Amino acid sequence: PRYSRIIGTGSFLPPRRLTNADLAVQLAKDDIETSDEWIVERTGIRARHFAEPDVTSSDLALPAARAALEAAGVKAEEIDLIIVATSTPDMIFPSTAALLQHKLGIHGCPAFDVQAVCSGFVYALTVADSMIKSGAASKALVIGAEVFSRILDFKDRTTCVLFGDGAGAVVLAGSDEPGIVASELHADGRHVDILCVPGNVAGGKVLGDPFLKMDGQAVFKQAVNVLEKVARSVLQKAGRSESDIDWLVPHQANIRIMQGTAKKLKMPLEKLIATVDEHGNTSAASIPLALDVAVRDGRIKPGHTVMLEGVGGGFTWGAVLLDF
Ligand code: ACO
Repeated sequence: PRYSRIIGTGSFLPPRRLTNADLAVQLAKDDIETSDEWIVERTGIRARHFAEPDVTSSDLALPAARAALEAAGVKAEEIDLIIVATSTPDMIFPSTAALLQHKLGIHGCPAFDVQAVCSGFVYALTVADSMIKSGAASKALVIGAEVFSRILDFKDRTTCVLFGDGAGAVVLAGSDEPGIVASELHADGRHVDILCVPGNVAGGKVLGDPFLKMDGQAVFKQAVNVLEKVARSVLQKAGRSESDIDWLVPHQANIRIMQGTAKKLKMPLEKLIATVDEHGNTSAASIPLALDVAVRDGRIKPGHTVMLEGVGGGFTWGAVLLDF
């Protein structure tokens, strides 16, 4: 096929929802001070969902995948590629994708994880698109699934208020009509220090710090800069302009980064899909979660042109332009 196309979307949030006020009460037990006002004003986040301690990324991915399969009218047995974007895998190995394959009751097709932190979903979608166009696969499940609550230091108020857990999925299929029109991925390992979980497991111990570390202001500056550049580059590749975009679905980290990107692209804010208020930053899950919300509430319709944009630790970033 000349193209790959999204033919179904799905998502899942763990049921436990914490408002900013709920989180403030929890943090106060350790004498950590925060407030709904501070979090809303700086980030746009009002609530997030946290998985129970025994629930893993593949557990969240399963209902998201099933919802996408149902929306696409595709049976799990028809899937011939599974890619899971995650930075919070169930295990060191095997991959979350292999565990998910087993939970879906299928076996044999290639299944692997992609690790690009908050850019994970655009990375995974681009890999699946290439594999479909090359003939290596015909119907792929592409999923972002995270339990970031596991790597948050609840004694660090500058990070623990920002993130949440969840999963989003799409079924991507070969098609002679677009589909994904253009995409572009980047990484710059010089910026490791501004956003990382430095710890590792070795010799039966956790070596180094197992919690998320972030220089918020440095990340903010990088994010706004690269998101504008990569969006323009992808539009140019596709021979399209900003005004052709019906919906911008950026990584949901911070409403100010998202609105800043939309403004730089001269897009009206009505075209921005924002779920960060209810989801927080769910890393690789944030884009497919936001996409599924906007498809199911009827905003994103067949024929619409959608720009997906990811940015995150690495530093990594990328964008995918598609006709839905
Ligand atoms: N509650 C109350 N006060 C807080 C909190 C909190 N949760 N966190 C920090 N503060 C305080 C700080 O201690 C500081 O106090 P001080 O002035 O007395 O020292 C004050 O608030 C201001 O802190 P800053 O860090 O300067 O606040 P800033 O306006 O930069 O906002 C934020 C911080 C929200 C993290 C912002 O920098 C940001 O959004 N950066 C982008 C990071 C991001 O989106 N990361 C997501 C991961 S990246 C990704 O997904 C790609």
